[in-house]
Amino acid sequence: MEQLIVVEDLWKTYRVGDIEFPALRGVETRVNKGEFVAIVGPSGSGKSTLLHIVGGLDSPTRGRVIVNDVDISKLNSDKLAEYRNRDIGFIFQFFNLIPYLSAVENVELSSAIANVNRKTRRAKAIKLLEVFNLTDKTSKKPTELSGGEQQRVAIARALINDPILILADEPTGNIDSETGYGVIEAFRKSVENFGTTVLMVTHDIELPKFCDRTIMLKDGKVIEEVA
Ligand SMILES: Nc1ncnc2c1ncn2[C@@H]1O[C@H](COP(=O)(O)OP(=O)(O)O)[C@@H](O)[C@H]1O
Ligand SMILES: [Mg+2]
Repeated sequence: MEQLIVVEDLWKTYRVGDIEFPALRGVETRVNKGEFVAIVGPSGSGKSTLLHIVGGLDSPTRGRVIVNDVDISKLNSDKLAEYRNRDIGFIFQFFNLIPYLSAVENVELSSAIANVNRKTRRAKAIKLLEVFNLTDKTSKKPTELSGGEQQRVAIARALINDPILILADEPTGNIDSETGYGVIEAFRKSVENFGTTVLMVTHDIELPKFCDRTIMLKDGKVIEEVA
């Protein structure tokens, strides 16, 4: 199988005043193309830090992160921004939808920024909403949607520019567990319909069962990988 992500001896040390805190201490892991991987571990174990570095939102102190054959730890800030915008879709715990835009307008927003013409991007946004069973919600504002629906809109939004990788940080942390399954189903569809790879940090003990593999972090290190 083709590898999408290679993480080698990854260290991240945060400095607060005079105190250094190693959030990541030599993380090693690999993720294949088209895999749906859960990242679990106690609070403070470095899950978000790992996701941020893989997504080019933060830089490593030491080590390498190769994504799609590019060593992103070596990119300058312009190239890193390009990588983030072109290749990565981010999903956060709080859906971060724009409140005065409808669901379909939220989904097509970043495609508008990328200068895709109006008709094409609208058609694509509607198609994505359809895949996530939101056809009847296209003109609704975020406040008119449930938490699970808002998160599915956020997933559709993340997919509009065809990212190779979705990074989700506790995407079900703000919705009830029943609705959480709908979000998992949406990630599974991203993998199956669009060939996306998904890395999902979760607290929920049930959700990793629906993933292809689980990476467990503790004290900034991978302690176990379960298929
Ligand atoms: N920007 C930062 N500055 C200083 N310390 C940080 C920063 N971000 C994270 N940390 C510390 O690094 C550790 C790992 O954090 P994080 O990756 O957010 O863990 P998790 O997502 O697993 O809860 C924590 O102890 C946290 O306090
Ligand atoms: Mg976190």
